[in-house]
Amino acid sequence: MSSGAHEEEVLGKAYDSRLMRRLLTYLRPYKWQVGLALAATMLKSAADVAGPYLTILAVDKYLAHKLDKHSPLDRWLSPNPWTGVGQIAGVYLFLLVFSFFLEYLQIYLMQWTGQKVMFDLRSQIFRHLQRMHVGFYDKNPVGRLVTRVTTDVDALNEMFTSGVVAIFEDAFVLAGIMAVMLYVRWWLALITFAVLPLILAVTAVFRKYVRDSFRRIRIAIARINAYLQEHISGMVVLQLFNREQKAFDRFSRINAGHMEAYKDAIIAYAIYYPVVEILSSTATACVIWFGGNAILHDALAHVPARDAMTVGILIGFNQYAQRFFRPIQDLSEKYNILQSAMASSERVFKLLDTPVEIVEPVSPRKSEGLGRIEFDHVWFAYRNVSVGPDGRPTDGDQTATATGGGARATQTTPDWVLKDVSFTIGPGETVAIVGHTGAGKSTMISLLLRFYDVQQGAIRIDGVDVREMSLADLRGRFGVVLQDPFLFSGTVGDNIRLGTEWIEDQAVEQAARDVNLADFIASLPQGFEEPVRERGSTLSTGQKQLISFARALAHDPRILVLDEATSSVDTETEFKVRDALNRMVEGRSSLIVAHRLSTIQRADKILVMHKGRLREMGTHQQLLAQRGIYWKLYQLQYKDQEVAVSADD
Ligand SMILES: Nc1ncnc2c1ncn2[C@@H]1O[C@H](COP(=O)(O)OP(=O)(O)OP(=O)(O)O)[C@@H](O)[C@H]1O
Ligand SMILES: [Mg+2]
Repeated sequence: MSSGAHEEEVLGKAYDSRLMRRLLTYLRPYKWQVGLALAATMLKSAADVAGPYLTILAVDKYLAHKLDKHSPLDRWLSPNPWTGVGQIAGVYLFLLVFSFFLEYLQIYLMQWTGQKVMFDLRSQIFRHLQRMHVGFYDKNPVGRLVTRVTTDVDALNEMFTSGVVAIFEDAFVLAGIMAVMLYVRWWLALITFAVLPLILAVTAVFRKYVRDSFRRIRIAIARINAYLQEHISGMVVLQLFNREQKAFDRFSRINAGHMEAYKDAIIAYAIYYPVVEILSSTATACVIWFGGNAILHDALAHVPARDAMTVGILIGFNQYAQRFFRPIQDLSEKYNILQSAMASSERVFKLLDTPVEIVEPVSPRKSEGLGRIEFDHVWFAYRNVSVGPDGRPTDGDQTATATGGGARATQTTPDWVLKDVSFTIGPGETVAIVGHTGAGKSTMISLLLRFYDVQQGAIRIDGVDVREMSLADLRGRFGVVLQDPFLFSGTVGDNIRLGTEWIEDQAVEQAARDVNLADFIASLPQGFEEPVRERGSTLSTGQKQLISFARALAHDPRILVLDEATSSVDTETEFKVRDALNRMVEGRSSLIVAHRLSTIQRADKILVMHKGRLREMGTHQQLLAQRGIYWKLYQLQYKDQEVAVSADD
């Protein structure tokens, strides 16, 4: 959980050219739309800058009767003040309407592009997640992966839609205003700009504070998410052990952390905006004071009209001074958007760059045959453990050593879960695996289906190494029932078919009948159309198990793989399950991790796993006669079942 928060704490630069370049590649398919939006933005900025300049013209040329003043628009403007003022008002109005359309275009195009990019990115992440090997999910909590597809993609969207465009717009407007002011009266422009260093200083301080509290907000959100996810999934246990108050107290602390961080941000905003307001008013006051003095001075000194300070310029500068600070304010806000987008993109790209460890060969081999399975001296470990100088494992796995820095150069060694396991299953044979919990039984199945790759040795199907086959071909061969059956939301029928189109309705019904599920389904109000909730929460464990049996059977696999659930079911269901199993293994090679004596007795061969090694192999009778591990296991676990079995047979 804590490592989940760590990743969110990283908040780097607001601009990282490497990340930005990669982000921009997502805009490439929409370059026309983006280009058009940028063009609209530039034109709109120009229109915005032009407004006050028109005011200057109108006042000086027509109202203050300084007709000899020259301006670039003289050629089009009428010498008659009545017509001239009308013309300028007309242009002003036109610019307003024009800007309205440009803004519409810009917003529409950028939001549209943003949604497209989000769509592409989410699809890309999901595709990548689907290809990721199972080992990846052992290490990455669901909550964090969900955040990548939702919150992080949203942050990028915000950057594309409001951030980038607004930054361009602000920059254009700022440059435009400065240029016009300098062109019209450079010295008054410089006086107005005098507050700029102050504003920049205030902005820098503000940014530092806001940045810090935004970082804390993000950490708090990550913690809230992780905490909620864990505690909602574990709600039953929570209530069972009366941990509600304790859990609530811890939640309150995390929740309060979020609020406090927000409060700091709010204070920063509440101070920053009025301060900028004061500074911008100061600039306006300076314009009035220095500009006004200049007008009075020039009038007394009879400065020629061409060079004299005018009322029009005073009014125009007043307007500019007020608009001038808005982009700066905006830019400091956009900075946060950029910063969180960069952090998000870093995380998203890290996920997208995580290599898929289970890769298919370029030219896969097809195995032709009836389903002969061979484990050939298989060694496998899920992880490495560090070993101390004495060669004994210390705690902490490989990842812990890697992040711990190179200060303590410890060696790592694989934590073997399977050690030198060899056996074969002939076509049509039923093989049962037995052993204590944690002996590595489920692991053998994961390896057979290539959820993980073996470190040494090989697993072959009809003589072909599983690593040389395409994954679809390999997994398509198997019908698998895993230890804890997983149902998706949908209907009972959907869960049996699981989207495979070639399975006819009759086959689904036949499969249900074969696993003795028909009566149960018939008793449901909507039969096969009965809705199943997420994870099949409305069904009993036995029912879920039978449905996953039917699922495996309906797909008519060449090889059947079954990890029997350890939880026992009632005698009637037990009977149904046993009967269903009988029919399922018929004519198929089957590998069954067995917990039921009945399954074991029927097997052609029993593999006895002990601490990752295959210790004994043979039939029930042979193994009992050996009086070894199996015999002990039988005394401990299965003997009671014998009584129960014979009682209801
Ligand atoms: N994803 C994993 N990452 C790391 N270690 C794992 C993982 N899955 C299992 N292990 C470890 O591998 C060993 C074998 O686990 P496995 O699930 O194969 O046992 P099992 O024989 O199926 O036990 P059970 O009868 O309880 O199902 C255990 O010590 C377990 O802690
Ligand atoms: Mg298991």
